Amino acid sequence: MKTIIANWKSNKNEHDVTTWLDIAIPKLKASPHEIVIAPPFPFLSLVKNYISQHGAKNIKLGVQDLSPYPAGSYTGAVGTKNLEGLSVLYAILGHSERRSHFHESEQEIANKVREAGISGITPILCVTRQNITSLANALGKIDPTQIIIAYEPVDHIGTTLTDSLENILGTKQLAKEAFGKTRYIYGGSVNPKSDQDILTHTEIDGFLIGMASLDPQEFTSIVNEF
Ligand code: PGA
Repeated sequence: MKTIIANWKSNKNEHDVTTWLDIAIPKLKASPHEIVIAPPFPFLSLVKNYISQHGAKNIKLGVQDLSPYPAGSYTGAVGTKNLEGLSVLYAILGHSERRSHFHESEQEIANKVREAGISGITPILCVTRQNITSLANALGKIDPTQIIIAYEPVDHIGTTLTDSLENILGTKQLAKEAFGKTRYIYGGSVNPKSDQDILTHTEIDGFLIGMASLDPQEFTSIVNEF
């Protein structure tokens, strides 16, 4: 079973979300894989209700970020307290777009991971080859069974080409040395035409999909590759 995450980033309005769900959910709920939808925060309730009304038990909810702080006076921040009751199981943390556009530091990412852990949300920690070791140091001791490592090579995000299988597997080894034996997924330009050797490789536990998750047909056709 793979974990396949749709990261919609800062795309879609309410109408787009409903259209996507109407097309994709009937197909996705028949999949043997775990599907995670990570919509923008305002659509969490909408997606949660849709999933439960359609009895789509293999489809889970994720967020694209989290506050590094507990509940309190942090205007604009969305923390784990705010997510209670919304059935959020995963949080994508430390994405390169957060690091470059919002100047997230490794210490902030580590604090977000800690906040997620306290509330039982599984962090999907995005790493590159360059920051694996320093992120692991910033995190300190973690339980590797409670985290997913997502290898996200910046040069391959939002393009048309995935990284090579060799690099993906090589980075898995680096991740294992840094974090221990975690679930390990890949993200960066995965699309229905991606190399079958990558999509079906047993050492890769899933995929984080941006661009190709926006279109419901394209996303469901990737899920059907497995
Ligand atoms: P992409 O995005 O699939 O559009 O490359 C992946 C990501 O940013 O996680």
